[in-house]
Amino acid sequence: MSTHHPTPEPLPVFDHAIGVFDSGVGGLSVLRAIREALPGEDLVYVADSGHAPYGDQSEAHITQRTLTVGQWLAQQGVKAITIACNTATVVAARSLREHTHLPVVAIEPAIKPAVALTRTGVVGVLATRQTVQSESVARLCAQYGEGKRILLQACPGWVELVEQANLHGPHTEALLRQFIAPLVAQGADTLVLGCTHYPFLRDTIQRLAGEGVTLIDPAEAVARELVRRLGNNLHTQGHGSTRFFTTGDVVQVQRVVAHLWGDSATVHALPS
Ligand code: DGL
Repeated sequence: MSTHHPTPEPLPVFDHAIGVFDSGVGGLSVLRAIREALPGEDLVYVADSGHAPYGDQSEAHITQRTLTVGQWLAQQGVKAITIACNTATVVAARSLREHTHLPVVAIEPAIKPAVALTRTGVVGVLATRQTVQSESVARLCAQYGEGKRILLQACPGWVELVEQANLHGPHTEALLRQFIAPLVAQGADTLVLGCTHYPFLRDTIQRLAGEGVTLIDPAEAVARELVRRLGNNLHTQGHGSTRFFTTGDVVQVQRVVAHLWGDSATVHALPS
């Protein structure tokens, strides 16, 4: 007697997880906020470190990487994609939304809340070159910046500091001071952390800017938006898993993720 067992379709590995990605480890600052807001969810994080930094690359390249990583996450069965990278958002969020049926929640520079908070009327936006030059940021400034001065400041080198876990020390401090001091000198009392790597430099940025300056990181707002978008499709019980992947050098990324996230994190290779 022959028994026929049809081969079952392989189950998606991360069915119903939330996918989160960045050009590198910066998006861990967003992942942290998502983990706090949603302790029961399984999270899958991709650091596209084999192609970082995005901020100095062409729009075509950033779009292609955003679509490739987004597609990989969708293939694994995630229920939502979070773009934890301002540069990818301002360049490529629209393309990703056109290419997937999944909800896409994307971080963007928090210009609106900064404008609402400033007392001097001067806001500084710290971000990558691509972000400060983007049409999206020009649109945000036009939409919310009436009657205010919004100083857009590209910060070359800062992403690399975080990617190498060089968060302190004289070299780091000198590189941070170079871009913060001119903003404060022009009267900025509110600084937008417009790149997800920068919250890992927050203590030093705050010290250099002075206690009177407010730093704004929209990571918690992204987590709230995710909760809103997923509605009833959330795990409210238990503790979810957190899985890490990278297209870069696994040993190097593992070292930095362990430093920024904790020793329990294990990073897996994702073909570039
Ligand atoms: N973390 C990314 C952002 O929020 C960009 C880093 C990069 O330039 O790769 O903009």
